[in-house]
Amino acid sequence: MKILITGGAGFIGANFVHQTVRERPQAQVTVLDALTYAGDRSSLAAVADRVELVEGSITDALLVDRLVGESDLVVHFAAESHNDNSLNDPSPFVQTNLVGTFTLLEAARKHGVRFHHISTDEVYGDLPLDTPERFTPETPYNPSSPYSSTKAGSDLLVRAWVRSFGVQATISNCSNNYGPYQHIEKFIPRQVTNLIDGVRPRLYGQGLNVRDWIHVEDHNSAVWSIIEKGQVGETYLIGADGETSNLDVVRTLLEIFGRDADDFDHVTDRPGHDLRYAIDASRLRNELGWAPRYTDFRQGLAATVEWYRANEAWWRGAKALTEAKYAASGQ
Ligand code: NAD
Ligand code: DAU
Repeated sequence: MKILITGGAGFIGANFVHQTVRERPQAQVTVLDALTYAGDRSSLAAVADRVELVEGSITDALLVDRLVGESDLVVHFAAESHNDNSLNDPSPFVQTNLVGTFTLLEAARKHGVRFHHISTDEVYGDLPLDTPERFTPETPYNPSSPYSSTKAGSDLLVRAWVRSFGVQATISNCSNNYGPYQHIEKFIPRQVTNLIDGVRPRLYGQGLNVRDWIHVEDHNSAVWSIIEKGQVGETYLIGADGETSNLDVVRTLLEIFGRDADDFDHVTDRPGHDLRYAIDASRLRNELGWAPRYTDFRQGLAATVEWYRANEAWWRGAKALTEAKYAASGQ
């Protein structure tokens, strides 16, 4: 099987490429990635002999048409993915997340290629704290940020291309991922690399916001379950019952680093900051028989800390610039 993986040099995409090469040795893998600030060729260094990396944009219709036409399956991870960046400049989010997804769908339609679209739980907006309510595939779309609204739009494009043109597509909406190769602009690796540098973690606002953490390997095993066993046209929510407040994440990291529980700073909150995400993944568990393997969050965090300690060369070059951007926003 020939698989085209868009955004395969980014965090989740690179982990998906590693998992695919490891577990499906017959697969022929091509990665299409624009190598933006978030993409890193070195994330694929260990599998370089097994993977063709094409540097280019998913908005390039000619390139996309050729690569999709040569494939049996497209797994679409490529996106502008960071909420804070989308608040500073939404423009690349519209281009990549909307125009890029449209470009891929047109090629999938023309060539009749199976398509899996990777999306986020943020399309559903947020939930109140301390309620049992969780997102389901029936929850109405209500995105808050330029990032989540462009992801919501891309999901709707996929749904329309399924219904109007019969494109063979599935969609997954996953909660917050953590693990190796995550860009250090994101919450967990930002605090881990701060702590490695002896800098206090930075908590937006009071730190009461809740995210539903899942290890990236579990996200990607769920994606394979959907590709292999899911029903075309359906949406599957991916989550591993990992609800944790930002404050608790920071406190767990401080404990792992042997630091005092209050050794962090509160900084300017994110405008429009979503309060809580929580996923009901029953369809995935009951219909497709998927279950997560990384069920001990502290253990998963400790392993992630070890990865960042052991791979300083991978992240060090981006640290000063990332922190300079945050400093400009008082964060
Ligand atoms: P990331 O920012 O780490 O990686 C994105 C990748 O896409 C990078 O390699 C980048 O170079 C590439 N890219 C960006 N614009 C491109 C373009 N125009 N053409 C080709 N490649 C381009 O993102 P991530 O965290 O790995 O997220 C991957 C996908 O998963 C996204 O679609 C995101 O919405 C979704 N998602 C992420 C999370 C999370 O917690 N990170 C959770 C749920 C869903
Ligand atoms: O829910 C899935 C989404 O999770 C994905 O679609 C996005 O691509 C991904 O970036 C992530 O979005 P969040 O905005 O939830 O993730 P982020 O890592 O930016 O922030 C997680 C929480 O931590 C959020 O409540 C903001 C807070 N935060 C973030 C940073 C960078 C802090 O308190 N301090 C920080 O320094």
